[in-house]
Amino acid sequence: MSDGGRRHRVARAEEVAEPGDRVIVDVGGQEVAVFNVDGDLHALPNFCPHQAAPLCEGDLTGRMVVGEDGWSWEYVQRGEVVTCPWHGWKFDVTTGENVKDEAVAVPHYEVERDGGDVVVLR
Ligand code: FES
Repeated sequence: MSDGGRRHRVARAEEVAEPGDRVIVDVGGQEVAVFNVDGDLHALPNFCPHQAAPLCEGDLTGRMVVGEDGWSWEYVQRGEVVTCPWHGWKFDVTTGENVKDEAVAVPHYEVERDGGDVVVLR
């Protein structure tokens, strides 16, 4: 249901109440996923720019890098990276940016909680 213009009521807040929750919804004819990352809601199109896979159906993980000592590994992101299920491109759910190539990104939509509803602004 649209509130007119760019506000789209897409889900109930309880559907994405916990970190790691996600829901895939229709927003004006386009599939969009709403993710809960540490309590904040973010939305991306369910579309991978590589070969059009349903990006947001992939695993939600983190990102590790080699530590300063050159031996250990450390998390620099947790629970905010979605991995495309077809070929593994990874996108930051909080920005839409590809974590390996800043020249590649998908749109990131603002999301609000309005009463018990989730509203995507697009
Ligand atoms: S279609 Fe997403 S990485 Fe290839």
